[in-house]
Amino acid sequence: MNNSNLTCRIIGFGTHVPERILTNADFTKTLDTSDEWIVTRTGISKRHVAAAGVTTSDLALPAARQALSDAGIDAEDLTHILFATCTPDAQCPISACGLADKLGIKGAAAIDFNVGCCGFVNGLALTRGMLHADPGAKILLVAAERLTTRINMTDRATAVLFGDGAGAFVVTAAIEKPGAPRKGIRIVDVVLHSDGSLGELLTVHGGGSIHPYQLGDAVGTEYFLYMNGREVFKYAVRYMAQTSAEILERNGLTVADVDLVIPHQANQRIIEAVAKRLEAPAERVFSVVADYGNTSAASIPLALGDARKQGLIKPGIRMLLPVFGGGFTWGAALLEVD
Ligand code: ACO
Repeated sequence: MNNSNLTCRIIGFGTHVPERILTNADFTKTLDTSDEWIVTRTGISKRHVAAAGVTTSDLALPAARQALSDAGIDAEDLTHILFATCTPDAQCPISACGLADKLGIKGAAAIDFNVGCCGFVNGLALTRGMLHADPGAKILLVAAERLTTRINMTDRATAVLFGDGAGAFVVTAAIEKPGAPRKGIRIVDVVLHSDGSLGELLTVHGGGSIHPYQLGDAVGTEYFLYMNGREVFKYAVRYMAQTSAEILERNGLTVADVDLVIPHQANQRIIEAVAKRLEAPAERVFSVVADYGNTSAASIPLALGDARKQGLIKPGIRMLLPVFGGGFTWGAALLEVD
C-alpha cells in the first residue's frame, strides 16, 4: 500500500482525574505558603490527588474505557497500547500491560515510554509512525501520571505545583477519498526536540541507575522531583514559543490560522508568556492549570477533555499544542477537526 496519502486521526478520547481534591488552602495547614502566593506565581487553585494504592494504570482505565466507547470500538480490537508516563506502576511489569489486563485483553503490543511532560505529543509522533508502518493498526495512546507519588509534600517549592490524571486516545489511519465523511481529530504534524545538557535542572534520580538503592537504604529527597523553577520557566517559555513558530511556518500557517492554543499546563504565567511571544489572543489560549495543576504527560489530554466539554473542539478548528518537559524535551503538534 502507498502510505503517503495516509491520514492519522484521533477517533475517540477520554480523560480521568481522581476524586480527591487538594486546594491551596489545604497546603496552608502543613506548609509555609498561601493561596495568594500560589495563585499569583502559578495560577493553580486546586489539583486532584489519587488515594493511596491507586496506580497509574488504575487512573488510565476509566479514560481508556471512555476513549474506546467514544471511538465505537471494543478493547479486543486494539492492536497496540502506547503508554506515556514518568510515574509508571512499577519498573516491571510495564503500565501498558497493567492497563491491557485491566481492560481484559491479551495479545496487543504494549509499550511504555517516558518523555516527561512531553509524553502525549511524543506519543502522537510515535503513533503516526506506527500507523504508517501498519495502516490497519488500532492504537490506544495513553498519557497518565501518578505524579504526586514523586513529589515531596514537605517542599513548598514543588508540592503545590503537581496533580494526578490520565487521558486516552484511540488513533487509526485511512486513505481518505475527497468528499467522504470524516470523523475525529486529524494529526497534521508533530515537531520534537531535546537538549540533554540541561537535564540536571529538572530531575527525579532516586531508583534509577544514577541513584540506585541497595536493600535497607533510606529514601531521601533524591526520590522526589527536583526543579530549578526559574531556569525551567525561562526555557519552557523560549522553547514552546520557538517550536510553535517552527511548526506553523513549516505548514505555511501563522498564529492567526490557529483557533485554539493548548500549551503544556505547568504554570499560568508560562502559558501567558508563550501566548505573548506568539502574539496569540488570550481568548484562543486554553488553560485548565487552575483546576488540575501540572499533570505532566496528562496535562494536554485533560485540557482537551475540558475543551470538548465546553464545546470548543468543533468542526473546522485547528489546534496548536506546544509542550516542554524534563530532559529537556520540547515540541509541538498541530491538529485539525475537519
Ligand atoms: N509558597 C510561598 N513561598 C514559596 C513557595 C510557596 N509554595 N515556593 C517557593 N516560595 C518562595 C521561595 O522559597 C523563595 O523565597 P526566598 O526569596 O525567601 O528564597 C520565593 O518564594 C521565590 O522563589 P522562586 O523560586 O524564585 O519563585 P518564582 O517566582 O520563580 O516561582 C515557580 C516559583 C512557581 C516554581 C516558578 O519558578 C515556576 O513556575 N517555574 C516553572 C517551573 C514549572 O512550572 N515547572 C513545572 C514542571 S516542569 C514542566 O512541567 C515542564
